[in-house]
Amino acid sequence: MKITIFGATGNVGTRVIKEALLRGHEITAVLRNNARANEFDTAVNVVIGHADNVDDVIKWSDGQDIVISTTRPPQGQENQLVDTAKALLSGLEQTQVRLLLVGGAASLTVPNSQGILVVDDANLVQPAWRDIALACLAQHNLCQENESVNWSYLSPPAIIKPGERTGIFRTGTDELLVDEQGQSTISFEDFAIALLDEAESEKNSRKRFTVAY
Ligand SMILES: NC(=O)c1ccc[n+]([C@@H]2O[C@H](COP(=O)([O-])OP(=O)(O)OC[C@H]3O[C@@H](n4cnc5c(N)ncnc54)[C@H](OP(=O)(O)O)[C@@H]3O)[C@@H](O)[C@H]2O)c1
Repeated sequence: MKITIFGATGNVGTRVIKEALLRGHEITAVLRNNARANEFDTAVNVVIGHADNVDDVIKWSDGQDIVISTTRPPQGQENQLVDTAKALLSGLEQTQVRLLLVGGAASLTVPNSQGILVVDDANLVQPAWRDIALACLAQHNLCQENESVNWSYLSPPAIIKPGERTGIFRTGTDELLVDEQGQSTISFEDFAIALLDEAESEKNSRKRFTVAY
């Protein structure tokens, strides 16, 4: 597949590129500047652009099979996530390329809570994280309201961290996945597997899904 990735230098983005190369996909990595361009495998087509710029989204998605976006705004500029979702949806509406968006856990429901959202559970989202959680909620709402783009939205568990590539994890839909020890977690490496599985299978067209151990 021809895959464009925004957020290519990030924790998730770097693992997605590694997993995609392993599977033989053609990668276009969109960076905001070329400071880290030489960190990429020579097989990766490195280009410059911004995920919150509609023209860049059109330019780098045209002719591709899918766009994967794993961007995260700096603290204090959380609303950039909403602008980015708008630009991605608007650009991809024009090129009619699929969107696989990495979002947040905020819009998942808390297990056994009668529908309370993660964003409203102070045990899961501490005050310092509330702005990014609210931005993720708005980002998810924008996808749900969109009827023109073939989007899929992957909500991470509560915690993603560096770890092993095991290929063993559970998938879910709208509820936070928590293991028997009460942990909601996955490695970046397995999260990348889940993203590439979705890119290849298109199982969750116009749906949100989630993954965890
Ligand atoms: N529990 C949760 O809900 C949870 C936990 C962890 C992560 N996440 C989500 O997972 C995603 C990825 O997280 P991460 O840890 O990989 O983030 P990260 O390591 O901070 O990487 C963020 C990436 O986004 C890029 N970026 C930011 N704004 C951009 C823009 N406007 N255009 C293009 N690229 C842009 C950065 O590029 P530069 O190199 O140019 O800065 C960087 O490559 C985020 O959406 C985050 O909210 C959710």
